[in-house]
Amino acid sequence: MAVTPPPGDTLDHMASDLTVIVLAAGGGTRMKSKTAKVLHEIGGRSMVGHVLAAVGALDPARVVAVVGHQRDQVGPHIQALLPDVVLAVQADQQGTGHAVRIAIEAAGTTSGTVLVAAGDTPLLRGESLRDFAQEHQAAECAVSVLSGVVDDPFGYGRIVRNDEGDVEAIIEEKDATADQRGIHEISSGILAFDAEFLHEALPKIGNDNAKGEYYLTDTVALARDAGLTVGAFPIDDWKQTEGANDRVQLSELGRELNRRIVEQWMREGVTVMDPETTWVEADVKLAPDVILLPNTQLLGATVVGEDAVIGPDTSLKDCEIGAGARVVRAHGELAVVGEGANVGPFAYLRPGTELGSGAKIGTFVETKNARIGAGAKVPHLSYVGDADIGEGANIGAGTIFANYDGTHKHRTTVGKGAKTGANNTFVAPVTIGDGAMTGGGAVVRRDVPPGNLAVSGGPQRNLDRRVPRETDAASMGDSTDDEGES
Ligand code: UD1
Ligand code: CA
Repeated sequence: MAVTPPPGDTLDHMASDLTVIVLAAGGGTRMKSKTAKVLHEIGGRSMVGHVLAAVGALDPARVVAVVGHQRDQVGPHIQALLPDVVLAVQADQQGTGHAVRIAIEAAGTTSGTVLVAAGDTPLLRGESLRDFAQEHQAAECAVSVLSGVVDDPFGYGRIVRNDEGDVEAIIEEKDATADQRGIHEISSGILAFDAEFLHEALPKIGNDNAKGEYYLTDTVALARDAGLTVGAFPIDDWKQTEGANDRVQLSELGRELNRRIVEQWMREGVTVMDPETTWVEADVKLAPDVILLPNTQLLGATVVGEDAVIGPDTSLKDCEIGAGARVVRAHGELAVVGEGANVGPFAYLRPGTELGSGAKIGTFVETKNARIGAGAKVPHLSYVGDADIGEGANIGAGTIFANYDGTHKHRTTVGKGAKTGANNTFVAPVTIGDGAMTGGGAVVRRDVPPGNLAVSGGPQRNLDRRVPRETDAASMGDSTDDEGES
């Protein structure tokens, strides 16, 4: 599967023939957004991306995604994450039963197990889906619901059990009697089916209810009427089944997801000084003994090697940080930092920065498309764009790699062991040879041969501009002659 499972969420393959249906056709009015609800991101992935990652961990035989609202956004996004997904279009949303009927028709599923999940539950884990599917299969149920017991059941479908404790029906909030509303065991909306039963039950679902919708949850009563077994398996960790309907819930789930990811890394041997201000996205990989200091954000596909220390106040997106490196108060994107290298404080690593092992990008330095060799240093106040800096070279404070002539970008090459003066400008394309040096303030427009010293600008002139003191007046002759000479 193309989707990477969250850390620690790699599962054994489900033995049986498993079809997973992800419902993502609904609108997201309360988001008040031009972006479809399931595409809103937390932890570096869309909500539906998290669900697909959990689903992918089961390695199902097929995944069907039901799209409707904003399907021109949602469909391609899902296909990009899961190229072999079956997309089923539900043009108007007549309920979850209707959505699943369209999905089953699109996939042509007639046997095995069918698992139905919603696309907006970003904390869902593959292992929970697997445990649920296994419980469903072991109990040989026609239909099973992943349930939860919560303090406030408002808005959810209630699990109605008989005196023996067997599940009789799922009754939606709007259709429930006052007694039924008092039930605290609710449906997560995640259901498992025997495919043959589902196939027969779907056409029998009606829409004579408070919402006028075809409720998938009505399959429970249909199974009971047919004398088939129904299961309700509670999940302890209810948060995994919660969806975000507005931005407040999105941020709450985002914080909770982050708390879980950071805790997971601490259990894997990462030191996190302040978990509250440390943000680690789902696809980040950290080695043991990494140390994360406060206000650090590790985003995208960032990878950090053993013993590296990141932060405080650092954000890195899609960066590769070598073992033992030190990155302090920096912002980086698509940059590679070698083993034992030093970055910051106050550095900006733009895409294409490659810092060699033991090298340094220091204070107030911006780099872009720059290969900086092992042990080389750019310690202070510089812009390094489109450059190759050789091993062990040292770039003087306040150097500008002038890479842009107004039309095109050009590269600058600085040789191994070169030492350039402070406040230089390298006008690209230009090459400074191995072991060469440049004087302070040099504007280097022509190549410097290896071992040469380049200086530029005229010789220094000292002009005495002091204002004459009164005692010097006599020696200056007739002062009236000076008029108009200034
Ligand atoms: C549903 C369940 C309810 C459960 C709750 C958990 C039904 C009838 N009810 O209620 O028992 O407690 O989830 O959150 O299933 N969707 C479609 N097409 C549709 C309708 C919905 O794709 O025609 C998708 C939605 O985008 C959403 C999911 O299905 O992702 C659930 O639909 P929603 O309308 O939110 O159902 P609830 O009323 O929350
Ligand atoms: Ca819902």
